[in-house]
Amino acid sequence: MKVVTEIAEIREQLAGLPTPLSLVPTMGALHAGHRALLQRARDLVSPSGAVAVSIFVNPIQFDRPEDLRAYPRSLEGDLEICRDLGVDLVVAPEKKSLYHPDHSTLVTESLLTRHLCGATRPGHFDGVLTIVLKLFNLFQPAFAVFGDKDFQQLALIRRMVRDLNLATAVVGYPTVRETNGLAMSSRNIRLTPVQRADASRIQRSLKAARDLIATGECRPEVFLQSARTHLLTGAPDEFAIDYLELVDPENLQPVAKVRPGVLIATACYYGEVRLIDHLVIKP
Ligand code: PAJ
Repeated sequence: MKVVTEIAEIREQLAGLPTPLSLVPTMGALHAGHRALLQRARDLVSPSGAVAVSIFVNPIQFDRPEDLRAYPRSLEGDLEICRDLGVDLVVAPEKKSLYHPDHSTLVTESLLTRHLCGATRPGHFDGVLTIVLKLFNLFQPAFAVFGDKDFQQLALIRRMVRDLNLATAVVGYPTVRETNGLAMSSRNIRLTPVQRADASRIQRSLKAARDLIATGECRPEVFLQSARTHLLTGAPDEFAIDYLELVDPENLQPVAKVRPGVLIATACYYGEVRLIDHLVIKP
């Protein structure tokens, strides 16, 4: 496995790798969710291709400086996971290697970013789309694998690929969860054991709301009230809801009527730690 930290070296290393190439972009602190993506990336190019991983805590996608400071970093452990899974190339650059000191170009999307995390984290998705486009340009991968856990991010990347005629095939992977239902996230290690156990309330609350569809209910406010009540009942003092919304899965705009396929999505805080999750409403 090759590990490079300089962007200038990427092209040289890629030239020596078999094709096709699968890329898994990450911010490190790899967990079982990332592992599943790496395995999917390998399956996509088996038996002859190569898998590349980027590990970069992208500063321009953080809307809160303290969140960037506190973001977990564990490069040695990450490299071990990549080695175990037979990754061919890891790129772990410094900020200065990826962003020119006076870089001034950003990718902005103007519809799918209006709600959910786009509304509560200003500039976040400009940062995500910009780094993902840079990575696609640098690696020119045939495939890039992203988690469905970050549903809005995945939808935006698909849209950018469509709108900007990019050649990479974007592949989604289902959310990997802890046994209690909590979606795995690099941020989970910042939760106390009590908070981590309590955080199962997030997926449980979305399911409780989803189940209303079986009663013939279709008013969004009834679904949202149910989810809100389940989220807040018995929650610890430091728990807060950032947003809770019902949106169309294609354009991510709020729906007037709940029907199968609609997405219920939330972001919640335990103190400073922000967690997101969603569920598709199905009968
Ligand atoms: P990061 O949070 O490290 O996630 C990297 C990839 O892993 C993303 O595609 C994310 O959706 C996926 N992932 C995270 N947790 C998952 C889980 N529990 N199940 C399945 N997939 C999961 O997302 C980012 O980094 C960044 O925004 C990035 C795309 C790398 C741009 O900087």
